[in-house]
Amino acid sequence: MRITKAAFLTSSSKPNQCPDADRPEYAFIGRSNVGKSSLINMLCNNSTLAKTSSTPGKTQLINHFTIDNQWYLVDLPGYGYAKASKTQRKEFKLLIDNYLRHRSNLMCLFILVDSRHKPQKVDLEFMHQMGVWGIPFVIVFTKMDKLKASEKESNIENYKKALLEDWEELPEIFVTSAEKAEGRDEILNFIEQVNEQ
Ligand code: GTP
Ligand code: MG
Repeated sequence: MRITKAAFLTSSSKPNQCPDADRPEYAFIGRSNVGKSSLINMLCNNSTLAKTSSTPGKTQLINHFTIDNQWYLVDLPGYGYAKASKTQRKEFKLLIDNYLRHRSNLMCLFILVDSRHKPQKVDLEFMHQMGVWGIPFVIVFTKMDKLKASEKESNIENYKKALLEDWEELPEIFVTSAEKAEGRDEILNFIEQVNEQ
């Protein structure tokens, strides 16, 4: 599948401000600065669609993008943003949790992890919570272009090992680079398959 038309629709500061849940929706989440907005832009082949920044904490609202008039992509704020105040972090968490638990058309959550880092507790705990809530998710490794060839395989293998301490089966895993447009076909084909189910 290729995306031919991607357009920003709306930003919501509360789940009940989100557009009608009348079509399939795919949301992108992960720690601040992991590359959520960049990945959305890469998938849509549009470098200015979602706002990106080298400073963490850029995306602070639930942002809906309409794709080919048929489905939604959603850019969520990052979790675990260290520089936000405690109150702000609590508000973000509440916003994200409410969205995730009540969005009836959410087909799959894409959880992004930075391929350079060891498995982080905050991500593994977040995935565990998705299991408790029964929210289907896949994992996306980002910024693969920043890894040495020798690290690519070992980092992913280490991550799988950490996952298998909590999960009986591994989720679907995508390996991406927004810089090199790596992983686009795989992710879009996956979405196409789910849309057709
Ligand atoms: P918040 O909205 O702040 O939570 O961040 P985000 O997860 O949306 O990250 P964003 O897409 O804004 O990217 C953060 C930084 O990482 C930017 O400087 C991007 O250019 C950079 N970046 C994102 N993806 C990649 C990638 O695949 N490769 C490289 N080299 N840099 C990337
Ligand atoms: Mg962002």
